[in-house]
Amino acid sequence: MVLERTLSIIKPDGVKKSVIGNILNRFEEAGLKIVALKMVQLNKEEAEGFYAVHKDRPFFGELTSFIASGPVVISVLEGKDSISINRELMGATNPDEADPGTIREDFANSIGENTVHGSDGPETAAQEIAYFFTEAELVN
Ligand code: CMP
Repeated sequence: MVLERTLSIIKPDGVKKSVIGNILNRFEEAGLKIVALKMVQLNKEEAEGFYAVHKDRPFFGELTSFIASGPVVISVLEGKDSISINRELMGATNPDEADPGTIREDFANSIGENTVHGSDGPETAAQEIAYFFTEAELVN
């Protein structure tokens, strides 16, 4: 079986709502292994580096200020098809369009404060994981 890794961030709104355990439990229940985990507060520069792909979007300032506004929980999830499984668990980016039972439908307030981030493809996942973790920090 080919294992795949993806990056997950529980955003400041998820941490404030005390749903860290609930969200991590959904990952584990879906068969994804948490192979790295940390809670940090990003500064604005780190947030801008992480979301650099969106730097020309009109919402870049709002996006980076929000992700740096409080603690976040960053994890690496591993398993077969982890990227698509995580995206299914999260639901649509805009919580108004997210399916019932997804993380964003259950907890998110708006497209900006949408509780979780997840990598959108294998290349992005590799870049995003390397942005926050060294290879030695990933459990085998
Ligand atoms: P995320 O998966 O973290 O990746 C980029 C983020 O940009 C996305 O979730 C949303 O939170 C945010 N985003 C996308 N579109 C908008 C928008 N129109 N206004 C504000 N934030 C947005």
